[in-house]
Amino acid sequence: MRKMVIAGNWKMHGELNETVNLISGIKNLLEDYDLKCDVIVAPPFTSLETANTLVKDSQIKLSAQNMHFEDKGAFTGEISHSMLKSVGCEYVILGHSERRSIFGETDEIINKKIIKALSVGLNPIFCIGETLEEREANITEKVVETQIRKGLENVSESDLAKIIVAYEPVWAIGTGKVATPEQAQDVHYFIRNLISQMYSKETAENLTIQYGGSVKPDNAAGLLSKPDIDGALVGGACLKADSFVDIIKAC
Ligand code: 13P
Repeated sequence: MRKMVIAGNWKMHGELNETVNLISGIKNLLEDYDLKCDVIVAPPFTSLETANTLVKDSQIKLSAQNMHFEDKGAFTGEISHSMLKSVGCEYVILGHSERRSIFGETDEIINKKIIKALSVGLNPIFCIGETLEEREANITEKVVETQIRKGLENVSESDLAKIIVAYEPVWAIGTGKVATPEQAQDVHYFIRNLISQMYSKETAENLTIQYGGSVKPDNAAGLLSKPDIDGALVGGACLKADSFVDIIKAC
């Protein structure tokens, strides 16, 4: 059975004191709560070490928001897998649309990062999704298929089991314009079918596919009720403990 996973991508938000407040707030609100899903937080790099000490006595897991594919070297401003692991990260978000569109990350670069993360035991949260122009041109499935095929090139079936796929339509990110549960379900179903063809039905059935893009407490339950939507990758609404926890409770 696949897992439901709610993850909070803090993006470039959260100085140290805010990290302490936010994680403490989430922990307080989840105290004695019987979690029905996995919970992951992805603070900025500078907060990871502090976040790690805070989540240690909780069920919350830690993710980074990006990683370089090389082990080490002259890559000013970059972060390596071993640095992330040394501060307790179990997950790393890779291929986020902001990395693709603002920082020019290609499917090939994302594939290298995925391969590296898997080889060192970090679990990728692999983001894909179409732009508004692509949706309006009716090429959503083609775009998503290309991102998946290229992003997962040379990823073995046993390694795929360590990946979470996050479908994040670019037009829904930070816009307040959420995909309807039906729109999201259609793409999730397509992704699962594709994985089934590329790997096997069993692997596809076990794959966690999150939806991301303007997920809020008031729309989370509708999205999460769909059969192929296995959680959420939350941006804006994860920056407040109560709204993030409300989304977790919608599971
Ligand atoms: P928002 O929830 O702010 O739309 O962001 C979604 C996202 O990009 C998560 O990775």
